[in-house]
Amino acid sequence: MICAAILAGGIGSRLKQGKPKQFVNINNKPILVHSVEIFLSVDELDKIIVSSPKECVDKTNDLMDEYFPKNDKIIVIEGGETRNGTILNSIQYMKGQNCEKDSILVTHDASRIFVSKKLIKDSIKYAIEVGAASAAIPATDVIFETEIDGKLTGVPLRKYLCHAQTPQSFNIDKFLDIYEDLSEEEISKLDEAMVLFHLRNADVKLFPGDQNNFKITRPFDIKLAESIFKN
Ligand code: CTP
Repeated sequence: MICAAILAGGIGSRLKQGKPKQFVNINNKPILVHSVEIFLSVDELDKIIVSSPKECVDKTNDLMDEYFPKNDKIIVIEGGETRNGTILNSIQYMKGQNCEKDSILVTHDASRIFVSKKLIKDSIKYAIEVGAASAAIPATDVIFETEIDGKLTGVPLRKYLCHAQTPQSFNIDKFLDIYEDLSEEEISKLDEAMVLFHLRNADVKLFPGDQNNFKITRPFDIKLAESIFKN
């Protein structure tokens, strides 16, 4: 089984639109609808698991019914407290469907609306080959580390740095094996699913992402996304 998890369990506080960012319109369509549309065009996917904050599950179901009526590939679930919690809920859904061993989950931030079919297919291919894969693009700026607020504490060499993007895909049994082996302390430090593979020295294939595949995060990103549609 190969499923996509469209991660939309967050509230988008940095976008400051007074509602969760997945419901904000870009080019006259909610952000979440843009992402789901692209994933629906990828034939390899058996199900598209769309997550939602608990209080928005009904609204998310209504939105899916409005744009994709009677589409039984789409399933809406409640997200977790954190992004990784939402990923775990998506895996749990797959396990509940009695998916076969070595099934693949393709995770994607709902707010990366310019993801391409090629990126989704690449991530599936590498997750099958290697076990885990993430899109990434080389860092353009030098990145300062500041563990103490307002103070420079490190300057990692830019040539070794890249920006993580999604899709990030992995074998769910490998993910669960590693997750179940983590200490409470390690779990509390996780803020990115791929860290988990890194912690246990499991291979993660980094494949080229795309500059267009940015995450709509701050108000400026809305202007950028609208201007991409206009052009
Ligand atoms: N996400 C999720 N479940 C959570 C938190 C985040 O599925 N409990 C998802 C978001 O919906 C988003 C993706 O993870 O698609 C990336 O997170 P981010 O851009 O930080 O989104 P938000 O948490 O919604 O934004 P903010 O940090 O500005 O509140």
